[in-house]
Amino acid sequence: MAVRKDRGPINQAVKTDLKNSVLCWLATVDPAGVPNVTPKEIFTSHGDDRIVIADIASSNSVRNIRLQPNVCVSFIDIFRQRGFKFVGTAKIIPPEAEDFATLGAELLRMAGEDFLIRNVISVRIDRISRIWAPSYTLFPDRADEERMQSAYAAYGVRSGH
Ligand SMILES: Cc1cc2nc3c(=O)[nH]c(=O)nc-3n(C[C@H](O)[C@H](O)[C@H](O)COP(=O)(O)O)c2cc1C
Repeated sequence: MAVRKDRGPINQAVKTDLKNSVLCWLATVDPAGVPNVTPKEIFTSHGDDRIVIADIASSNSVRNIRLQPNVCVSFIDIFRQRGFKFVGTAKIIPPEAEDFATLGAELLRMAGEDFLIRNVISVRIDRISRIWAPSYTLFPDRADEERMQSAYAAYGVRSGH
């Protein structure tokens, strides 16, 4: 779905799945068209149209974005088995940039003192789409709780309640 002009794509549904997603996957492409996809744990939304990701150890992603800003970011809540995919345009924000403190504030909090954030990777979202597990189509009446129990069983996780 293309993003509406009058409001950003990040609504409550996106925020909920973001909060429950342990990782996102950032896909970039180099000038020769070679794709690159790697996981990032320190990421969040910013405003209603942007995802920000901490560059802690992502030299290839940063190099690619500087040369070719088209990216795709996806994330899923593995237990509820759903998430989102964003296609967007990324910008590398170094610490000396004026907007680093604003864009990076939440990432700095998440990273704590153990991880140095070299840059903020700021992604303006151009297109957004839902990712659903096939079970949403096959078993549309299943409640979240039931879906979660089935994911716990499939992944060998004990739910703790
Ligand atoms: C669980 C997990 C979480 C990670 N989180 C981040 C992160 O938030 N930021 C980051 O820069 N690298 C993170 N990494 C490390 C990068 O994925 C890794 O350094 C990767 O090789 C970078 O690839 P790139 O240079 O192609 O971006 C994480 C890796 C794992 C396994």
